[in-house]
Amino acid sequence: MSQLDEIYRRSLEEPEAFWAEVASDIDWIKPWSSVLDRSRAPNFYRWFAGAQCNTCYNAVDRHADGGRGNQAAIIYDSPITGRKKTVTYSELKEQVARCAGAMTALGVTKGDRVIIYMPMIVEAVVAMLACARIGAVHSVVFGGFASNELATRIKDCRPKAILTASCGLEPGRIVAYQKLIEGALALAPDIVESVLVFKREEAPWDLKSGRDHDWDEALAAAAPADCVPVEATDPLYILYTSGTTGQPKGVVRDNGGHMVALKWSMKAIYGVDPGEVFWAGSDVGWVVGHSYIVYAPLLHGCTTVLFEGKPVGTPDAGTFWRVIADHGVTTFFTAPTAFRAIKKEDPKGELIGKYDLSKFRTLFLAGERCDTDTLAWAQEKLKVPVIDHWWQTETGWPVAANCMGLTPLPVKPGSPTRAVAGYNVQVIDDALKELPRGEMGAICIKLPLPPGCLPTLWNADQRYLDSYLVDYPGFYKTGDAGYMDEDGYLYIMSRIDDVINVAGHRLSTGAMEEILSCHPDVAECAVIGAADALKGQLPVGFLVLKSGVTRSEDEIIKDVIAMVRDQIGPVAAFKTATVVKRLPKTRSGKILRRSMSSLADGLETKAPATIDDPAILDEISESLSKIGYPSKG
Ligand code: COA
Ligand code: AMP
Repeated sequence: MSQLDEIYRRSLEEPEAFWAEVASDIDWIKPWSSVLDRSRAPNFYRWFAGAQCNTCYNAVDRHADGGRGNQAAIIYDSPITGRKKTVTYSELKEQVARCAGAMTALGVTKGDRVIIYMPMIVEAVVAMLACARIGAVHSVVFGGFASNELATRIKDCRPKAILTASCGLEPGRIVAYQKLIEGALALAPDIVESVLVFKREEAPWDLKSGRDHDWDEALAAAAPADCVPVEATDPLYILYTSGTTGQPKGVVRDNGGHMVALKWSMKAIYGVDPGEVFWAGSDVGWVVGHSYIVYAPLLHGCTTVLFEGKPVGTPDAGTFWRVIADHGVTTFFTAPTAFRAIKKEDPKGELIGKYDLSKFRTLFLAGERCDTDTLAWAQEKLKVPVIDHWWQTETGWPVAANCMGLTPLPVKPGSPTRAVAGYNVQVIDDALKELPRGEMGAICIKLPLPPGCLPTLWNADQRYLDSYLVDYPGFYKTGDAGYMDEDGYLYIMSRIDDVINVAGHRLSTGAMEEILSCHPDVAECAVIGAADALKGQLPVGFLVLKSGVTRSEDEIIKDVIAMVRDQIGPVAAFKTATVVKRLPKTRSGKILRRSMSSLADGLETKAPATIDDPAILDEISESLSKIGYPSKG
């Protein structure tokens, strides 16, 4: 039996013994009373119950005081501004302790929530770690979300403070944050007491007296705060993710299990050793940013790269290779969409040859299905293993991967390889029976989930049950459909809900529909995901107008596009809509979004037996062709 098989077997057959051993890599303040608390089984489980720890201590102080003080913890590289900065572990400890002190001075204490709305700057990482240091629960909101999304999160987690910056920077555009924050606070009044603002020179911030505090001044005045012991089961953070409705789900992450799983994953999955340079080209607002820009590399004593730029246009499609060469990156993680963008600009990969990539060992891709063309291009041009791996916000770390630090397996294009230790992944039918290999079904994980995965949703145990556990009792429903082959390799094919994946970002079509339906001229609407050569999918809206509407269709379409941008944010990339006479529905009134998507993708689409009127699909097809679908790209 290979090392990989033995570890996998043990993790499922003796999970307590396996994870207790792994947990010895973490510094605990007080040991656990039970490795896995099953007292609320069969649905709720808690790892390392009774233990006390501090995530910031393990990610920062432990290294700063344990021989890595002068090692770079963070390399900030911002091709957008031309700025670069290295922060050592000792400097990081100093900054985090001061930021924690500044928050304490604002009255933030253990258990309080803090929203972090920041671009990709060092202060964002400092803010997250400072929360962890004092046991406050952070909730980072991605800068591409607008006021309304921010307000929804404020109302749900009720933060005492917001930590922000005066702006984010997109190519050719300054995203001023004050207007967005003021908008959110107007929609969610009387909750947030303080706003701590890091002023960037690119945009001003008008400090509101009594509420706003200048980052530099507050940190300079603060007494450094020490790490506070928290329960291993206490929440470290809440990260909101798209569900099927406009109300995002607050995924909760604990402290103990999260540290154990993430630290283990760095060597076992990514094959990285402490001291090496690891780069996840994502954003701190997404789970990839939480886990693999901030927590995992720092817990492992690595140097993490914080990149404020895009794969193309900042300044060109060679940016990634420049960063890898400049900083000696050994392991790089990004989304396939970034590679598609690079391939489009530099199809022959000519810019790669300009840089010394001799230290670069492995490329990891995740966030969306990795198409085989992109995989083959990356393999051929970079000449390093290209590893597709599959996971989601809820799990916090990879569910399926090729474990480069254990026993690397042959790559099969289209598959993120096999389930990782701790995850009993099964493809099952509605009767909870495992399907024969090769047959498509719901991809589920047998409970209990391993450490690091969500124990519940924020203040919403029932929603946690309804969203993930009730459909397949005894299993966690991932929301993805696919199959497993004879060798246990997984193939992730599609979502089984109305979540779409745009440029590696998970978005809810339901949330967009809620906005469209608020337009005074719209009687009914549907939003689907349509295949896109660059971004994987793009949202497309269908509007049925109220009778007697006098405004032009073009005007109404412009309105709804602006509404989605304004209310969800530019990240929704909602730029296409069309007016139709009616929507295809089942006899019971359910809109046939799947059939519409398949028409948009140019797939053979048979009208389902339950359809009310099959002729409507022809009308939809006609409307789609007017807006360029199926797309030729
Ligand atoms: N703040 C404000 N606006 C933001 C933003 C942020 N943090 N991030 C993105 N946006 C805006 C963009 O400016 C763009 O606005 P526009 O409509 O005015 O052009 C819109 O949101 C869509 O952004 P994006 O998805 O980044 O598309 P793009 O066309 O600018 O770039 C790619 C395309 C492929 C280069 C880009 O999507 C990319 O780098 N993807 C990698 C994704 C990734 O790392 N995902 C994480 C999972 S691992
Ligand atoms: P998020 O929670 O935003 O990380 O999105 C998670 C979802 O993205 C998964 O449930 C999948 O639908 C999709 N996804 C992530 N990684 C992969 C992958 N490697 N292959 C296919 N789909 C993926």
